[in-house]
Amino acid sequence: MLYTRPPRVEALEGDPLEAGAGDVVVPVFKSKDGSVKLEGTAARADELVGGALSGAVKAGRFKGDVGETLAAYTREGRSVVFVGVGEEGVEEHKMLENARSALAAAVKGLVEKSQEATLVLSELGNAGVEALVGALLGAYKMEAFKNEKKARLSRLLVDLPGDSIREAVAIAEGVYLARDLANAPPHEVAPPRLAERLRDLFSGLENVDVEVFDYDRLVREGFGGIVNVGRGSEEKPRLVVIRYRGGEGDPVALVGKTIVFDAGGINLKPSQSLFEMRADKAGGAAVVGATWTIARLGLKVNLVTLVPAAINVPSGSSYLPSDVIRMWDGTYVEVTNTDAEGRLVLADAIAYAAKSLAAREIIDLATLTGAAWIALGPLYAALFTRREDLAKAIEEASKKTGERVWRLPLVDEYKAMLGKKAPVGEVANAAMRAGGAICAALFLERFTHGKPWAHLDIAGPGIGSDAGPMAPKYWPQGLAPGWGVRLLVEYVRSKAGG
Ligand code: BES
Ligand code: MN
Ligand code: ZN
Repeated sequence: MLYTRPPRVEALEGDPLEAGAGDVVVPVFKSKDGSVKLEGTAARADELVGGALSGAVKAGRFKGDVGETLAAYTREGRSVVFVGVGEEGVEEHKMLENARSALAAAVKGLVEKSQEATLVLSELGNAGVEALVGALLGAYKMEAFKNEKKARLSRLLVDLPGDSIREAVAIAEGVYLARDLANAPPHEVAPPRLAERLRDLFSGLENVDVEVFDYDRLVREGFGGIVNVGRGSEEKPRLVVIRYRGGEGDPVALVGKTIVFDAGGINLKPSQSLFEMRADKAGGAAVVGATWTIARLGLKVNLVTLVPAAINVPSGSSYLPSDVIRMWDGTYVEVTNTDAEGRLVLADAIAYAAKSLAAREIIDLATLTGAAWIALGPLYAALFTRREDLAKAIEEASKKTGERVWRLPLVDEYKAMLGKKAPVGEVANAAMRAGGAICAALFLERFTHGKPWAHLDIAGPGIGSDAGPMAPKYWPQGLAPGWGVRLLVEYVRSKAGG
């Protein structure tokens, strides 16, 4: 949505096998006993293609496994793509994931070949919307920086009601936006430019306004974390605050780490670790994408989204190891490592949300620590919170969207180390290597000023590029998947009840 739009989706009236256009994608279930179910649209489509499906089933060439496809043609030359959606009657959340994966797999096969396709989704029941989400996410290609564009698929016809279509499209737009932003080349979205792009993008939405804190204002108002992390780059930092008014009461705050590039600063990273650090803005990308979707859906909630954006590079004006910086809330932080920059920009944004924006609760997403990535790999985010209610609601949402989280503890005894490593200031920004993700979370907690808070360390899935064949089918190969957008939308929706 910064660069890439999902295909247009239209409601299909009438029989998809007759009224549809382009390739017709037909889901096929497996029965409990493992046999392929030849019923409903699948059975009728099988007849139209002269029994190609039943033939393949008999020959043992099609089993109905999730994402397995079989292409066949009618006598008139229309293409039908059967796609396995796995076993029927499985647990709800499993069915949703199967639907997303299957349709993504089917669409991935068409995206470079066809301009339009028809998706038969009404027989998937509750999973229909998620199937469409999967199809749209599977169609994503980052081609803004390629002269030769390969994505051709621009129109989908779907046998779902208009409301379901609008929902899936709004979700896909949010994820597209997050993917575009997370994967964008750093200088394309340097903080000043990013702020302007966000202002433009969101100015078209109802009940949304965007406030940009420029560098002078950040300095003037004492945002020491954001200012110091960003001062080594010519492209100075910004804080973007997006407000959405859709309901009553104090806002939920979403905060996303937006390090447009993380070279580590004076504590420069080794060469091999630099490349993926363009996606060190994945947390910011996720909260921006979620905000887009929430506003597009008009969810009944008030939201403030904070995007502290900076580039962390070494230069003559960079902040230095052993600098003591005064944060927005007055805390003096001793910089033990300039590569522990994410927690500094987040701390300012979190404190500002807690004390100045009257946030009722704060959720932050951040590609914060190598430790979280090493612990959980590319498919799980680490969840930290003291609040059981928040943990439960986030875990519920996570189950539904398939964006997996694993709770890690906030270990009180470790807190002392933050002080011990700061002989001159009050706290160190990095204190221990062992338990690095926990230590980072404990640092952030200081800046929440007692507000209900949950922290998702998305170092693994936010970057995502190392997931390879382990990745869900609806993730783009080798790119940041826009992790967390759907989770946040689902969480906020569960609270707003809509
Ligand atoms: N952005 C990195 C964390 C990261 C590393 C995310 C690899 C995804 C993959 C973060 O800013 C960082 O550099 N963290 C350091 C902190 C340390 C210096 C205390 C880390 O985890 O090594
Ligand atoms: Mn870093
Ligand atoms: Zn970082």
